[in-house]
Amino acid sequence: MEKKITVLAGDGIGPEIVAEARRVLDRVAEVFGHRFDYTYVDIGGCAIDKYGVPITDGGMDACRRADSVLLGAVGGPKWDGCPPSVRPEKALLAVRKELGLFANLRPTKLFPQLAGSSPLRDEAAEGGIDLLIVRELTGGVYFGEKTTKTVGGELVATDVMSYSEHEIERIGRVAFETAMKRRRRLASVDKANVLETSRLWRRTMHRLAEEYPEVGYSDILVDNTAMQLIKNPSQFDVIVTENMFGDILSDEASMLTGSIGMMPSASLSSGTLGMYEPIHGSAPDIAGLDAANPLGTVLSAAMMLRYSFGMAAEADAVEAAVGSVLLDGYRTFDIMSDGCTRVSCSRMGSLVAERI
Ligand code: IPM
Ligand code: MG
Repeated sequence: MEKKITVLAGDGIGPEIVAEARRVLDRVAEVFGHRFDYTYVDIGGCAIDKYGVPITDGGMDACRRADSVLLGAVGGPKWDGCPPSVRPEKALLAVRKELGLFANLRPTKLFPQLAGSSPLRDEAAEGGIDLLIVRELTGGVYFGEKTTKTVGGELVATDVMSYSEHEIERIGRVAFETAMKRRRRLASVDKANVLETSRLWRRTMHRLAEEYPEVGYSDILVDNTAMQLIKNPSQFDVIVTENMFGDILSDEASMLTGSIGMMPSASLSSGTLGMYEPIHGSAPDIAGLDAANPLGTVLSAAMMLRYSFGMAAEADAVEAAVGSVLLDGYRTFDIMSDGCTRVSCSRMGSLVAERI
């Protein structure tokens, strides 16, 4: 097969981790006889420096025309003072919105080899952590009206959070369908005791639940979810939630896998076009040191193979290679433990590629 991949390496450690994911993808192409063509587009702070905007119209077009998009990370202290309309993160939100990437899948799976790195050691030993967060990605407070006005002599800032029934229903369907392919349990996370958007969310999910009687459905409040993820994460199979709750809970859940550097994600549209990115940020403190953990990005590339290209065997091969490298004790600094071998970002990428 021939596929066009638009690469948005971004800022900080973005270019380093994306280079390793590409190394792995190139190896997949070689072994399985595919051809991947890459188009590199600047996004985030590096685009602001060059063009004055976090992504150009041409860059956005290259994303639209691709078979899939691979993203590193955007942002950094250098651009923290930028006005909201040209912040690096603005480009990321614009790509999500423009490409209709409403469904963000964030699998939280603890490789047994990394049980020692998870803060929940006993739990990890007991039966594993394997849950999937389905985060709504193009609605809610991220995209509502934002204003700052002077009222009664002081500044008042407002962010509007709104959800329509159809937005809730389409993410709900993704979650129920995903649960059907897994252990058939779905927890819908909301704040229905306080928020109107959550009450509509819950009503809509209940309506869908009737269509999926095989799925064990439950409602859970977001604050309780934050606690349950630490107390007993193995109770969860699929979690579905709105945009901001999903942002927060997925960072929390990522630590269960040993390090935020391990967690991949797929942002999907109603077609096959998707954007694949690790959930961590640009980590400016370690940028350029060849120290970052590239595995979240490598595992995101595996999700690209699986979801956008329908290449299940290839995706399995990448995931197995990651497992094998970890089994042999190779670790970047963030997952380092006694008796293991510490490796750089590029060495980790090479080790994975060699084993495909
Ligand atoms: C994420 C990130 C982004 C988000 C930021 C960089 C805008 O935290 O993908 O989780 O909040 O969605
Ligand atoms: Mg986040």
